[in-house]
Amino acid sequence: MKIDFANLQHQYQLYKTEIDANIQKVLDNSNYIMGIEVKELESELEKFTKAKHAITCSSGTDALLLAMMALDIQLGDEVITTVFSFIATAETIALLKAVPVFVDIEESTFNIDASKIEAAITPKTKAIMPVSLYGQPADMDEINAIAKKHNLKVIIDGAQSFGATYKEQAEVHHCNIYTTSFFPSKPLGCYGDGGAVFTNNAEYAEKIKKLRVHGQNKRYQHKYIGLGARLDTLQAAVLLAKLPHYAKEITARKAVAENYTQGLSKCVQTPKLKSNRSSVWAQYTVRVKNRDQLQEGLKRAGIPTGVHYPMPMHLQECFQYLGLKEDDCPVSERLAQEVISLPMSPYLNDKEQETIIMRLVERV
Ligand SMILES: Cc1ncc(COP(=O)(O)O)c(C=O)c1O
Repeated sequence: MKIDFANLQHQYQLYKTEIDANIQKVLDNSNYIMGIEVKELESELEKFTKAKHAITCSSGTDALLLAMMALDIQLGDEVITTVFSFIATAETIALLKAVPVFVDIEESTFNIDASKIEAAITPKTKAIMPVSLYGQPADMDEINAIAKKHNLKVIIDGAQSFGATYKEQAEVHHCNIYTTSFFPSKPLGCYGDGGAVFTNNAEYAEKIKKLRVHGQNKRYQHKYIGLGARLDTLQAAVLLAKLPHYAKEITARKAVAENYTQGLSKCVQTPKLKSNRSSVWAQYTVRVKNRDQLQEGLKRAGIPTGVHYPMPMHLQECFQYLGLKEDDCPVSERLAQEVISLPMSPYLNDKEQETIIMRLVERV
């Protein structure tokens, strides 16, 4: 049996009729940039999240840039973020010549440790940027209380968490700006690069819309230094076909995660889901002591795995200029050695899951 890590092919076969028809419509109209599907998708995303404004863009990375540019984050400003994430989280801060200030994570959820944020605040701090890692929101009440006390903005990097909830609401309702990614392997993915920015603030929304088209007010009149960061119409068409199925896919992902937890919690540390929030299970990630060996063994048994992530930010070569070193963020350093992500898709069937659980249990 060969198991697929995210099983995008299966999903395409299921929704092929709608996806193909939507793509064909774009080809027939040839409105490849800002076609009608982009507006339609934004309206559907607003309905899905109950956000006042959804602005699509070219990737989750560009969504982060747009969010920070809308908040005027610039040279020398400090942005507090988690040390354990995909590089884009901190990279975009640095790209704007701001300073990423890394905070270690919680052992049980892999998310930023909110109790360590206040100690990282300085007069230069402008924003806090938690990541909803593997699809689970961070401690937003605690983070928002700190932000309020110190007059800081909050951006959630929700590249992995579109569809997750905090206190039964989409995460956009618990921050100033929420961003996500529609990279193909994300829980809601398109067929190329894509992303979106969400906010309830009309001023930010207007600015983000301009920033994504080179800061333009009107054609060839530029109010801001911006980006070329639009979502293309073909990707919007794919997402429009997939979005109506997404709620049931999230339910299926939850069932897969519960099944994993049931089968594995006696032999490995399974992910903890905190109360008052839900995860979309972008990854199902466990901790093991013999990761490399286990990964090799599972690979031989036809089971693909991933490591998200093998090195925390502060130890990356590109961030050496920040002067951090080993032992500065011990929890993330330990977890970087131990985490392993298992195949996860709404279409992982019982037989496949049984096999994964059995093969893993016999190898740890
Ligand atoms: C936490 C996080 N932030 C940002 C990104 C960037 O998204 P994209 O690949 O769409 O640019 C990703 C994507 O992998 C991510 O996981």
